Amino acid sequence: MRRPLVAGNWKMNGSLQQVSALLAALDSLALPDTVDVAVFPSMPHLILAADKLKAIAVGAQDCSVQAGFAAMTGETSATQLKDAGCSLVLVGHSERRELQGETDDVVASKFVAAQSAGLVPVLCVGETLQQREQGKAIETVTEQVEAVIRTAGVDALANSVLAYEPVWAIGTGLTASPEQAQQVHEALRNAVACHSDAVAQGLRIVYGGSVKAASAAELFAQQDIDGGLVGGASLDPDEFGAIIVAAGK
Ligand code: PGA
Repeated sequence: MRRPLVAGNWKMNGSLQQVSALLAALDSLALPDTVDVAVFPSMPHLILAADKLKAIAVGAQDCSVQAGFAAMTGETSATQLKDAGCSLVLVGHSERRELQGETDDVVASKFVAAQSAGLVPVLCVGETLQQREQGKAIETVTEQVEAVIRTAGVDALANSVLAYEPVWAIGTGLTASPEQAQQVHEALRNAVACHSDAVAQGLRIVYGGSVKAASAAELFAQQDIDGGLVGGASLDPDEFGAIIVAAGK
């Protein structure tokens, strides 16, 4: 039985004051003890979040390809994130693949760097609308995962989380139907199972893309959907709380 994870990706949102209020609201939520919960604030708010949140894990939205310390102006290493109180880090979010031009190789390097510093990488994969319309959704996301397996080995996935986030569903209000999402999650698990069935069965694959409280329960009821990576709705503590409750049912 895989324990569900509900994670909030705050993206580039929130002033210090707004984030403080959000952290206080989250810390007072009554959380089901059957669900793992995490939030991913912006870099300047990580230490505060790790300090304020007792039952919720904190992760960063990105890390450098290199762990440790180095002459890399503007970068933040997984080592520093761990030191700041993070336990997780997103790698390969589609906004970074698109806006920062992150390739599969860069994402794989970040995955390895995260694990070398003791962080759990949340590997984000997803197809564009064009790729879906061309019938290439499964091929696209499978290759994104295979690129990490080639670099890190399949056993490295045992200590990670996979997030399927169709690009066309992120921030658009369009959610993949539970059936569409389940089809991709199952294909991803099967692809990993070709390397190691044990790793595949234990791997948490969460869904992201306009998840709301209203759509969460049906998504999480699917056999291969082990929780959610929530963007916009995670900035509202009541909405996020309702999504967590849905994952606990
Ligand atoms: P969204 O974002 O829930 O706002 O669509 C999800 C994500 O990008 O992680």
